[in-house]
Amino acid sequence: MNYRKYKPETDKDAVYRILNEVGWVHDKKKDKYLNDFLAKGDTLVALINNEAEVMVVSSQGTIRYLQTDLKLSAITGVTASLLARKQGYAGKLTATRIAIDAENGAEMCALGIFDQGYYNKLGFCNGTYEIVASIIPASLDIKRKVKQPNRLTEKDWEKMHENRIIRNRVHGSVTLPSYSTYADIGEENKNIGFGYYDDNGNLTHHLWFQGLGKENGPIWIKWMIYQNLDQLMDLLALLKSFEEQYHCIRMIEPPQIQIQDYIKRPHLYRSITLKSQFNNETRATSFWQIRILNLEKCLSKTHLNCDKFSFNLNLNDPIEKYISEDQSWKGISGEYIITLGNDCKAVKGKDKSLLCMEASVGAFTRMWYGIMPATSLVFSDGLIAENELLNKLDTIFRISKPHTDWEF
Ligand SMILES: CC(C)(COP(=O)(O)OP(=O)(O)OC[C@H]1O[C@@H](n2cnc3c(N)ncnc32)[C@H](O)[C@@H]1OP(=O)(O)O)[C@@H](O)C(=O)NCCC(=O)NCCS
Repeated sequence: MNYRKYKPETDKDAVYRILNEVGWVHDKKKDKYLNDFLAKGDTLVALINNEAEVMVVSSQGTIRYLQTDLKLSAITGVTASLLARKQGYAGKLTATRIAIDAENGAEMCALGIFDQGYYNKLGFCNGTYEIVASIIPASLDIKRKVKQPNRLTEKDWEKMHENRIIRNRVHGSVTLPSYSTYADIGEENKNIGFGYYDDNGNLTHHLWFQGLGKENGPIWIKWMIYQNLDQLMDLLALLKSFEEQYHCIRMIEPPQIQIQDYIKRPHLYRSITLKSQFNNETRATSFWQIRILNLEKCLSKTHLNCDKFSFNLNLNDPIEKYISEDQSWKGISGEYIITLGNDCKAVKGKDKSLLCMEASVGAFTRMWYGIMPATSLVFSDGLIAENELLNKLDTIFRISKPHTDWEF
């Protein structure tokens, strides 16, 4: 595979052609993804006949494990032009991007999927179900009057980014660099935000949504940022204040609440809006995937509330065969001794006196992050271990489900 770093000066037209064929970008002058994001992100292109026909971009950020931040490589774009499909280029370029990021210190990798299965071949596993909620704002049951908000526009993007970084961070929550927030702002005539400042002029909580131009919505909440749940109630009261304007608001359920608790007559509204463009419903789906890139680092940053105990892990990482030969990082297959407790660790080796587990990197990631219990992963992800070990791990990893709380 002939690949290299993206060069905006020479590759922009070819990459525009890819993104246009894919249906993501239709205006090469105005599009922020093409003009800003790809140039600032870590972008690779694969060349066919000396022209970029495949593009993969990653951004370096963080992902939280309980109270600790891990270094994250977020794959924020994978595209192949219509000329380059089904030749294996996209998979190889993605694996190579991941290998470079891992070599540069990334401990975890995350991405959004177009469908399940493709990235599993690179060691990724399904993340938590996220709830996509469609709500009639008039049905919101918020026991406070709306506070006067401030209008936010594109020129406030840096303040919004800073607010995103210091938001209420939950297990699994992601942060990405500021250029990512800038690219996500979207077109001025379709996107708008509102927020609240403290006495020192710092933005404390805000929301940003898409859907201007549609008289009654639906609107899509791109992000809702708060540092505590009291501030979230302010934002829900603000959304309720739009009830005469918008007939439907769509959002990913904010972490730490169950949105149905704040809706009057949820079943009635769902029933009477069943076939409407403003249908009131909640859908659950897993659309992001993650995987461990550096097992030793991830475990050294894991602190669990359990007695110390160890087991053998035979880890299988399928990514190796997709990585370009010139890269030194080849995945994390191997035999490890895993120690869990207040201070966890993973060291290379095997201790014959310990119980044993065989797992793919995806299965182990799902168990360790609390996405699915070990006993279930036996059937869904081919994890193998004795019942004694499975039952012990089920109890230890009974932790809160991760939510990325950042779309990418
Ligand atoms: C996603 C995309 C980059 C994949 O390109 P591609 O050229 O098909 O990818 P590759 O050549 O690397 O892989 C093709 C292989 O993956 C397999 N595959 C595709 N989807 C799969 C799935 N959901 N599960 C398992 N395997 C899958 C194909 O069957 C094929 O297998 P084969 O090699 O045995 O024939 C391309 O379809 C694209 O640009 N789509 C539009 C943009 C997009 O959605 N990007 C992804 C954002 S997450």
